[in-house]
Amino acid sequence: MSDPFRTIEWKGDHIRLLDQTLLPLREEYIEIRCVDEMCEAIKRLSVRGAPAIGVAAAMGIALGVMHAEECEPELSKRFYEVCSAIASTRPTAVNLFWAVNRMKALFESNRNLSPTMLKKLLIDEAILVETEDRRLCERIGFHGADLINDGDTVLTHCNAGGLATAGYGTALGVIRAAFEQGKKISVIADETRPLNQGARITSWELMKLGIPVTLIPDNTAGALMQRGLINKVVVGADRIASNGDAANKIGTYSVAVLSKFHKIPFYVAAPLSTIDMTLKSGTEIPIEERNSEEVTHIGACRIAPEGVKVRNIAFDVTPHELIHGIVTEWGVAIEPYGQSFDKFFLKAKEETGL
Ligand code: MRU
Repeated sequence: MSDPFRTIEWKGDHIRLLDQTLLPLREEYIEIRCVDEMCEAIKRLSVRGAPAIGVAAAMGIALGVMHAEECEPELSKRFYEVCSAIASTRPTAVNLFWAVNRMKALFESNRNLSPTMLKKLLIDEAILVETEDRRLCERIGFHGADLINDGDTVLTHCNAGGLATAGYGTALGVIRAAFEQGKKISVIADETRPLNQGARITSWELMKLGIPVTLIPDNTAGALMQRGLINKVVVGADRIASNGDAANKIGTYSVAVLSKFHKIPFYVAAPLSTIDMTLKSGTEIPIEERNSEEVTHIGACRIAPEGVKVRNIAFDVTPHELIHGIVTEWGVAIEPYGQSFDKFFLKAKEETGL
């Protein structure tokens, strides 16, 4: 089944993005023509979801140097300025920094090339990050589909679908692969306050794919689990520490605790680019806090008194003890996660050289 939308696309002289802030009311694409526009699009979540942010970062860098002066050190100066602008947009999804580092490694190992050649190389790499991501998601789906049984009802939180990646999705990729194998499954989508990625994006995406979905307020998950109406939980991740602790959209930790109490398997699905082996545990993961208006308002409508004190923590960390398995493009990692990850990184290096 082909994707019913294109999350992000390189168009030669600009980048085309499906503006996720407008979904599901309007399906509008925006044209990004400079790095500042890309930084703004990432910050306001027009493009969002860890792997999609990685693709946006790589493309934003390529776009940012495209019109730089054709001489060293001007190109070099511009390249590093663009990299730091992109790196300062959002702190939690490690895919963003993974993409920046990948572009830096390419730039630094090809300094001998002419500026024209170097620019072309950066553009080709950004396009490659996008095409690779789609393939990785399909492989995550392939490995994860076995975890889903015929007849399962699967709960997911936030949006880890095609819109959070270059296509197909991570958590939704697992669900989609099981569905495409003919398993009769249905999905419970948490609305995911405050920005409602579950209500606005996940339910929209699943309906487009014809996968049965029921939307619930976040505080309904426990009641459904208590009634035996949820068999599995699959979520995405923004950054996973080397011990398997996983940061994902705020509310994920609560779902994991509920799953543990109700003995429901809880899985995380993410590519290796989401795993940060430099971090010993989830306590080291930088957690984004966003502005209070996202909590006091729904869209343009105020729902809380003016002046009320607000906390808007965008992500939480689920400890590895609550996770039954982490589905990657190289297989399903299990405890001890560090060992599984080492094995997968080695395999990836042997087979792809990356
Ligand atoms: O703030 P967002 O919408 O970028 O947060 C997205 C999530 O938390 C996703 O679950 C995560 O990035 C995984 S995407 C495959």
